[in-house]
Formats: sequence, structure tokens, C-alpha cells
Amino acid sequence: MAVDPNRRVVTEIWQGQPRVRLATLPTHLERGPVLAGQSLLWVKRDDLTGLGMGGNKARKLEFLCGAAVASGADCLITVGAGQSNHCRMTAAAGALLGLEVHLVLAGDRPAVLEGNQLLSERFGAHQHFTGAGPAEWGLLEIAREDLTEELQAQGLKPYSIPIGGSTAVGALGYIVAYQEIVEQAVALNLSPKSIVFTSSSGGTHAGLVAGRAHMRALGRTEVLPNLLAIGVAKGVVAGFPSVKELAQESLAIAGLPGEVLDEDIEVDARWLGKDYAIPTDASQAAITWAAHNGAWVLDDVYTAKGMAGLLGNATQGRWASGEDVIFIHTGGSPEVFVRHD
Ligand SMILES: Cc1ncc(COP(=O)(O)O)c(C=O)c1O
Repeated sequence: MAVDPNRRVVTEIWQGQPRVRLATLPTHLERGPVLAGQSLLWVKRDDLTGLGMGGNKARKLEFLCGAAVASGADCLITVGAGQSNHCRMTAAAGALLGLEVHLVLAGDRPAVLEGNQLLSERFGAHQHFTGAGPAEWGLLEIAREDLTEELQAQGLKPYSIPIGGSTAVGALGYIVAYQEIVEQAVALNLSPKSIVFTSSSGGTHAGLVAGRAHMRALGRTEVLPNLLAIGVAKGVVAGFPSVKELAQESLAIAGLPGEVLDEDIEVDARWLGKDYAIPTDASQAAITWAAHNGAWVLDDVYTAKGMAGLLGNATQGRWASGEDVIFIHTGGSPEVFVRHD
């Protein structure tokens, strides 16, 4: 472990992979109310990972930025929807690490920056607005690749991160998270049945799946919660095989034993509604329910639909009376302050 005086960040090696410590870990696992069907909710507060107002991406960025620093990169490039939490947290990581950050974003530059865009600007990132539609992921990825080549041609050494940081390296952060949850459950004498979370680009899901496969390979089966991803973007629903491949690849680069099976991967797409970032009646109700029952702040795009999926599954009888269910609150709070005219 080492502290770089210029960067003020601890670097270490985890399973042979460079990691910069950006997140406040472990995050709390806090008790929630009894759900329909008498199961009990627990909330894993990954909205409080700390980095630039927190969220799930801080865990991925620990490894992505570890790889960037190890490769000698002098700037980070990434891409996302107009109000991307991943982009905002990459901007925050760049500020901490002294790396220039370029963000490729959907939409046009608004007259007044709000939410994640306001914060990214404050962290010193360059925001490149592409005019692309909110879920035109393919176009956005092409724009990221083009910008990467452009900056290379200018003599920069970018570390370019695909959408959501969902690479095998990024997913390592959620292998760590799965282990963390199991340790917390054991300490609390719980045997949670399921971990439920919002899934979009799939890296969070892949890391958790990998973490579970690893625990299973170690024979740690006494506490082995299954995983229920609530899909909030169409790509993820179609992308079933890629979560499996990403998970297996992530285990491989960390040199961890574990075999990912088809049945390990479950994406419940019923809570998406019309499309990415378009609220549903259930997501609006989940925002109010979470605020009233735990003072949890959910965002429209991600966590509201994730929680809607959890509440809906509980109502439909997925969990038996007395079973513990964990919701990973993956963040997104800056979006709450964006006006939707
Ligand atoms: C708040 C929030 N929750 C969940 C997710 C989904 O994570 P992933 O892209 O790893 O599937 C994101 C991704 O942007 C997010 O910002």
C-alpha cells in the first residue's frame, strides 16, 4: 500500500490488479421495514461511497483508475447519458488523481448546467455534448472512440473507459462488494435470500455474479444470496450473454476460481416501462415509499425502477415470510435536483 503525495490517494494491489482507494468502504448495510409477504428489507448504502457525492461507480473506478495510473495515462475519457452518474464520478476521480477528464455526453449543452453536469464541471472535467439521444449508446461509444483518437493525436495518453465503466476491470469493484455483503451478513447473523439492484450497462451485475461464483467455488455456501438485476435500459435486457462473459473475464483477470453459470444471471425487465429514463407509475411510487420508509433518496432513472422491481417482486410473493432481502442503493442522487420541464 502506498500514498502518492501528489495524488493524496492510497494505491494498493488487489489480486494482482492495481487499485486506487476512492470509495469509503465498507458502506453501511442498514435495516429497513418489513415488505409485502413479511420478508425484511436491508439497504446496502452504495449511494454513500463518498466519491464526488457517491454511487456504485466509485467501486468500479477504484480499479479502472488503478489501471489508468499504472498505464501512465495522463487523462481519462468516458461516456454516458446527459445526466450520467458514472461521468460525474469519473470527473471526481480525475480531480483527486490529478488527471484531465473528458466526458462524452448525450444531448446538447444546456443554458444552465444542473445535477451531474454541474458537478462534473465543478470537478474540472471537459464535457463534450454530442447531440445524441439519451439511449443512443452505440453512437455515444463511437464518439468516445473518436475523441480518444483525437486526444492521442494531440499527444495525450488517455485511458478510455466504455459506458458505465462496465469492463472486466471495472467489475472487480463488485466482486469486492459481494464479499463485503457476505461478511456483513455473517456479522449480523443474517442469511439473505437475494440481493436486488438496478442494472444498466451490466458491470455492477457482472461483478456481483463473479463474486458469488467465487464464493461458491470456495465452498462458502452457507451465506450465498442470489442476484436479481432490475434492468433499466433496453441494451442490458438484450445483453444477457455479455454479463456472463464479463463476470467470467473479471474472475480470470483477478486469478480467482469460479465458474459462472447461465442460471446465475437473472434480469427482470418488467420495471423498465417505455424506455431508459422515462418514469413509470411504479417508479414514482417507489420514490415516495423509499423517502417515507427509510429517508432513502432515489433517482428517477436508476434506483427508483430498481426499488419498484424489489417492491413489485415482494408483492408478487417472491420472498417468504422472515426472509432477508438486500437492496443495493447504487446512488444517483444528483439527478433529483434536475428540472424536467
Ligand atoms: C445510480 C445508478 N444505479 C445503477 C446503475 C447501473 O449500473 P451498471 O451500469 O453497472 O449496470 C447506474 C449506472 O449508471 C447508476 O448511475
